[in-house]
Amino acid sequence: MQSQNIQWFPGHMTKTKRKIQAGLKLIDVVVEILDARIPISSSNPDLADIIQNKPKLVLLNKCDKADRNATNKWVEYYKKQGVTAIPVDCKSGRGLNRFVPAVREILADKFKAQQAKGLKNPILRVMIVGIPNVGKSSFINKVSKQTRAKVEDRPGVTRGNQWYTISKDLEMLDTPGVLWPKFEDEKVGRHLAFTGAIKDQILDIELLAMDFLELMQNHPTDEFLARFKLKKEDITDIQPYDALELIGRKRGMLISGGEIDTERAANLLFDEYRGGKFGLITLEYPEDL
Ligand code: G4P
Repeated sequence: MQSQNIQWFPGHMTKTKRKIQAGLKLIDVVVEILDARIPISSSNPDLADIIQNKPKLVLLNKCDKADRNATNKWVEYYKKQGVTAIPVDCKSGRGLNRFVPAVREILADKFKAQQAKGLKNPILRVMIVGIPNVGKSSFINKVSKQTRAKVEDRPGVTRGNQWYTISKDLEMLDTPGVLWPKFEDEKVGRHLAFTGAIKDQILDIELLAMDFLELMQNHPTDEFLARFKLKKEDITDIQPYDALELIGRKRGMLISGGEIDTERAANLLFDEYRGGKFGLITLEYPEDL
């Protein structure tokens, strides 16, 4: 799988676009994997343009870490757009039993038309797309049976394309389309970094922690407050840097001279957030669009 630290250049983008467009000719449904905590930031700004009118199914992955009400709102949002979205957790496999029926449902009309022509059990084919770290490999590992269909046995399939069998009449193109996020948008960058989709090494972790703490200062979760033995008032009217120092102090992260090790505090903050220790937090809602 691609490294999470992937650098996107216009050349890469063109190449990816071409690869996805070539794949589109072979498949019936595009499966877009999003991070349920950040469906806006984990989406690709050009996908609609790339896939044109190919049917799409959305998987709201990592729903085990997202706020359930927010995820339901996203499901409703997509429904209004005529798109089926399924909350899934590709780590445990929760929700994945809805995947095959959802693809069949999307293609029900096509299925019927093919059967009317006397074709029995047409094989439905899907392609996975998503930004790095959204859970593409985890999804593929969970749903694919080990056997790969042989290229030679599949008329009409370009040499080099391999298929994973998901069920007797559903196959998945083996290489997912690795999309780029809308990285020129600062908020998108921040949200990708908060959730760990972008590597910390390339970012200023303390600045990032201050951005995150600003969110917690405005909308603290009970779990967050309890974890640092804080009351809401303790953090409401202070600067984010002071909040970071407070977190460090609470955990005894001192360096010589009694100063707080804010870098360590920042790292701890993200370890705990990404580990789900602050509760189920969704960072983006359909209203934000
Ligand atoms: P990618 O192919 O799209 O790049 O993503 P990949 O499947 O490699 O997943 C990236 C990280 O997200 C992995 O964590 C993976 O375990 C985790 N992940 C994927 N789906 C889910 C999910 O539904 N829920 C949760 N909580 N995590 C998920 P990692 O830390 O890189 O690896 P690991 O320590 O989990 O093995």
